[in-house]
Order: sequence, then C-alpha cells, then structure tokens
Amino acid sequence: MNETDFLSSLARRSGDPAISWLMKMTLDRPAMFSLAAGFTDSETLPVAEVGELMAELLRSGADARAALQYGSTAGDPELRKLTLDYVCAQDGLAPGAALTPDEVVITSGSQQLLYLVSEVLCDPGDIVLVEDPTYFVYLGICEALGIDATPVRMENDGIALDDLERTLQSLKDSGRIGRLKFAYLVTYFQNPTGRTTGFEKKREALAMLRSCEKAAGHPIFALEDAAYRDLRFDGPDTPSLKTLDTDGERVIYANTYTKPFATGIKVGYGVLPRLLARPVLRTKGNHDFGTANLNQRLVALALKNGVYARHLPVLRAGYRRRRDLMNAALQQHMPKFVSWQEVRGGLYYWAELPERADTSRGSPIFVNALDHGVLYVPGDLCFAETPARPKPRNCMRLSFGGTPSHQIEEGVRRLGGVLKNARL
Ligand SMILES: Cc1ncc(COP(=O)(O)O)c(C=O)c1O
Repeated sequence: MNETDFLSSLARRSGDPAISWLMKMTLDRPAMFSLAAGFTDSETLPVAEVGELMAELLRSGADARAALQYGSTAGDPELRKLTLDYVCAQDGLAPGAALTPDEVVITSGSQQLLYLVSEVLCDPGDIVLVEDPTYFVYLGICEALGIDATPVRMENDGIALDDLERTLQSLKDSGRIGRLKFAYLVTYFQNPTGRTTGFEKKREALAMLRSCEKAAGHPIFALEDAAYRDLRFDGPDTPSLKTLDTDGERVIYANTYTKPFATGIKVGYGVLPRLLARPVLRTKGNHDFGTANLNQRLVALALKNGVYARHLPVLRAGYRRRRDLMNAALQQHMPKFVSWQEVRGGLYYWAELPERADTSRGSPIFVNALDHGVLYVPGDLCFAETPARPKPRNCMRLSFGGTPSHQIEEGVRRLGGVLKNARL
C-alpha cells in the first residue's frame, strides 16, 4: 500500500502549502532577513488600543459573557452591519435592496471566504480564471479542490482584456465554458505584484464574464479579493467591482480586518450575491459554525468607537516609510538586470530578472540567498500550471511588510550581492 492511499482524494491532491514552509522558515530562523513572509508590520500593531478595547469589552458582565460565548455562523450582527456600512461608505453605495447585512458573512480571515466560495461553487475539473501571477495561497486551494486554475495574463493595471477574451473564446470553442465558475481577481495592490486593477478594466472584465453566461448555462461570478485595499499609502482609492454589480448578483467582495488592523485577530468578511449567501453559510456551518466571537466583538468595537479609523493613518505612514526604504535599497543594491515597479500600497515589490534566471526553491539563487541569511518568495509559486506556457521562474516577491525596518536595507543588500554573483 502507498503511504497516502488511505487519504481522501482531496488530501492526496493537497501539496504542502508554500505559505506554511515559508512562515516556518521565517519563524525557525529568527536571525534571517525575511523578505518573504506576508506578515504585517509588528512595529505598528495596535497593542495599546487592543488592550483598552479588550478591557472595555470585558468590563460589563453581560457583554463579557456574550463575547466569550459562541456566536452565529454568519457572524456578529453588529459587526455585519458595521462592515456593510464601511464597504458602502468606501464605495459611495447606499445600503438597500441589493446590499443588506444578510449578504455579509464574517469569516476566519478572508482566506476562509476564498475557500468557502471555491468549495461551494466548484467540483473537481471546474475552472476558475486567475491572474498570472496570482496569490499563491489561492492556487493551493485550487489544487486541493481539483479546480483548474486557468491563468490570464497580467498588465500593469490588472488582467489583460485581450487575453481574457481569448481565454473565454477558447473555453467556448473547446466546449468547456460550462466548467467556468468564476474569475478570482486581487484588485488592490495585488499579492504578489503590487498592481491595482483600473476601474474601466473591472467594468469590461465583468461584462465579458456575463456575456458568457448563456453559453455556460449558469451564472459566472467575479470574486474580488480586496485584502490590501486599506493599505493604500499613495494616490486615490478605486471603486470596487461591487459598484458595478448593478443587481448585486455576480460579485463576491472579499476583504479583511487582519491586514489593516491586526493579523492575529484573523477576522475577514465577504459581501455575497444573494444566490450564494445561503450555500456559503451552510458550508461555513459545517466548517466552524462561526468565526471567533471575541475577536468579532473586538473589531466591532474598534469600528464603532473610531479606533480602527484612527489607526489606519498610522499604519499607512508606517508602510509608506517601509516602501520608501525598500525602494531606496533596491535602487542602491540591485544589479541593472533586475526591474521592479513603484508600488502605492500593499506589502510587496515584484522583482523581475532576465528570463533565463531561475529563482525557484532549490535553485542556486534561492540556496545562496538562504546561505546569506535572506529569504524571498520564489515567483514561480505564484503562477498556475498551464500547458499554454512554461512557468516563469525569473521573478521574486519581496515583502516590506514584516521585516523590521532596520533590516530592509541589509536584506536587499545581501540579495543584491547574491544576484550580482549569479552572473546573469
Ligand atoms: C491576496 C490575499 N487575499 C487574502 C489573504 C488572506 O488574509 P486573511 O485571511 O488574513 O484575511 C491574503 C493574505 O496574505 C492575501 O494576500
């Protein structure tokens, strides 16, 4: 018997998530300069504020008891309402017929929402369109659920519409359009590239997806992952895809309170089309029948009494400083053959090397970097497998989020030295 024969097909399909070994490497080697982890900035975590919120939450006996009890599957009613108000205010939308707290679900991080939506909509062999490159942890979900993650080329302002059109046409031509369930788009300061999708592009992409519904024979959704929307430190905000979802029936909007407040609380949310709210809640009921209630109450209080809003500018200033530090270090220490683009939010720079370079795990560049005490995310992890092209191996994701600011320059200097020695 093979040692995995007894496992379910889902478990056998699941590889070791790269996020787990990257985080473990970071935690196991505290002396290492990690430019890899998606950890947020420890220096700006709202420690004192959370202490005060927690004391307030637990001060009154009845509230404290409620906070320490199980809650409901959909989430704390007050937090759902505050969340809807927050999303509507950000997008200039009016809560109303299409947008009510009933469509809001509070999840254990937005990661859980990504999983739930994928599980609810997809059988093995179904298709989800993903950006090329995309959030690599999402590719792990696709692998486990047997979803065919089909990449669509990325440009500086989001997916390339000509490639989206070509991909949709080829699904129609091959008779596979019926397997297409949704497009997964990380539209704000994307992980890993830092790119933001333009509003007109969102409009056209949504229209293209909708135009395939007749051929598919079912709704085709857009899952907008806005995890980094609040981590914007330069330039104006872009309205969400939800603002284009006139009947409220096709856009799943995912966001989180982890990145812009505290990752340790792991509270995220989704604003769902009515068609999906019930199925998602049923499945969440089977997963955990509710996100940690104490953490939800904490977030609700932070939103209600202005702590969240007051913390955002502090956080943004902290990340802007780190972005500037990394940008200066890249300019000073990277060899000429490395290119990257300025980012206006989020946590990441995406560095591109010449095509012949190999930055993958186990490559001489990766191993040398580790020997010099530096860890980065190999870019190939962020590309879906497809027969249409070999996986690019010439990119790296460099995070300025979790690295102590005094280590950013030294980490980039060491990495630059490794790359210079690679003689590309
Ligand atoms: C693009 C993207 N979406 C979702 C998540 C999940 O975040 P959380 O579960 O903390 O909300 C992450 C975390 O790194 C991310 O980068």
